[in-house]
Amino acid sequence: MKKNRKTDMIKEQTTMFGTYEFPTTEEIIDVYSKEFESYVTPKGDTTFGFWMQTLADLELLNLELNGLTNNYSIDSINRTVKLNGSIKELKLRIAHLEKVKGEKTLYTDLMDKFGDTNAYAFHNLYPYKGKFYPRIARTLINAFELNENSIILDPFNGSGTATHEASLMGIESVGIDITPIGTTIAEVKNELLFAKENALKFSISDLQKVFDLIEKKKWKHQNSLIHKLMLLIYFDTIDAFVRTTRYNRKGKVGLFIEKFNYIKNCYDKLIEIKNKFGLKFKKAELIEGDVLKLKSMKNMEQKFDAVITSPPYYFSIDYVGKDKIAYDYLGVKMPEVEGKYLGMKNEITNHPMYKDLPVKVIKYYEDLKDAIENIFWCLKPEGKCAIIVGDSTVSGKKIPTTIMTKKFCEEVGFKFEKLIFNPLLGARNRAIRGESIIICHK
Ligand SMILES: C[S@@+](CC[C@H](N)C(=O)[O-])C[C@H]1O[C@@H](n2cnc3c(N)ncnc32)[C@H](O)[C@@H]1O
Repeated sequence: MKKNRKTDMIKEQTTMFGTYEFPTTEEIIDVYSKEFESYVTPKGDTTFGFWMQTLADLELLNLELNGLTNNYSIDSINRTVKLNGSIKELKLRIAHLEKVKGEKTLYTDLMDKFGDTNAYAFHNLYPYKGKFYPRIARTLINAFELNENSIILDPFNGSGTATHEASLMGIESVGIDITPIGTTIAEVKNELLFAKENALKFSISDLQKVFDLIEKKKWKHQNSLIHKLMLLIYFDTIDAFVRTTRYNRKGKVGLFIEKFNYIKNCYDKLIEIKNKFGLKFKKAELIEGDVLKLKSMKNMEQKFDAVITSPPYYFSIDYVGKDKIAYDYLGVKMPEVEGKYLGMKNEITNHPMYKDLPVKVIKYYEDLKDAIENIFWCLKPEGKCAIIVGDSTVSGKKIPTTIMTKKFCEEVGFKFEKLIFNPLLGARNRAIRGESIIICHK
């Protein structure tokens, strides 16, 4: 008689001595995978994205839903959300849901098209050090209820993650960074959003010629986007060769062409999504400048609805790899850039609060407080502020930057709202285990 092996399986398994018939490995896997699927696959029409993995993600979902709608409840066991009201805007903006009322969100489409939760649009143009996650920027924009009439500032804009995300969401922004390379990357990402398809048409032999011209320092192009884009791809290519022998077979030109094609491919995918959802991108203004000199910049006082930013917090300026290659190529003097970096001033005051801290940390804290005071000054009344920061270890000492940042925010007049600790999954050492998002308002 043929037995129903699936239902009998668990009973038959209870002995070790072979007197019963045992299920096959395939049967065991089949039963358990079905059971597992019933746990992890959300059931419902408004479901969590698979990229939601931590309790911090749950808190971020709550934060953005709070900004986007006023009628919702989260079911964290079944990984679903109950929503009332219109979903049109929510579907286009939310960063943590896979489906809203049965329809795929724009974010899910970006994930699916680009195959990555962070490398969509031009976020992956260049691996700038200390970049933050685009999803966090999007979540904060939602949480702060910003729209096409708002304007955002990132005064430590680096490679422009916040400004790029704002542009993708149709929101105006200003990004300031002290480094020419950060500003250039942010500009290229920004300009690519508005580039004509023809501008990116290069044959393989064209690209070979471009590579040669750059090598000989004779590269010039009348379209400044193309001029800068090719240089960035070149720096990235050379850096890859310095780091590993893996690309030797491809050759430098081969890798340069591959990297260009990757960007062209990102462009094509993004335009497809833009047309599908009828998106309207907004240009960002990008400034190479110093956050400590914000007050001397034109029309900055009480200009912004929100600041979303992440200051440098590793206490060392480590211009390795690409940045060094870029600065050497462009003839930019590194010490001049370094001298303007947060925490690089010459004198320090002897504040009792800082006793026992290494001098470089004291210098950094003094500048950080100044920077936060400037941020407060350029926000509108009630303006929102999110600062993403982490603690690090200097000479074996834990440096409490998160709590100091919160303290500085309150000292300059901000009202503290929330601190969310976002663990760094897969952290391999004790020094940096995650980062915190400090949220406050003016
Ligand atoms: C953690 S990174 C920010 C990265 C950025 N969120 C991104 O996604 O690329 C900190 C940035 O602060 C910039 N910075 C340091 N000192 C500065 C200053 N005095 N004024 C403006 N920017 C500064 C650095 O150049 C660096 O790009």
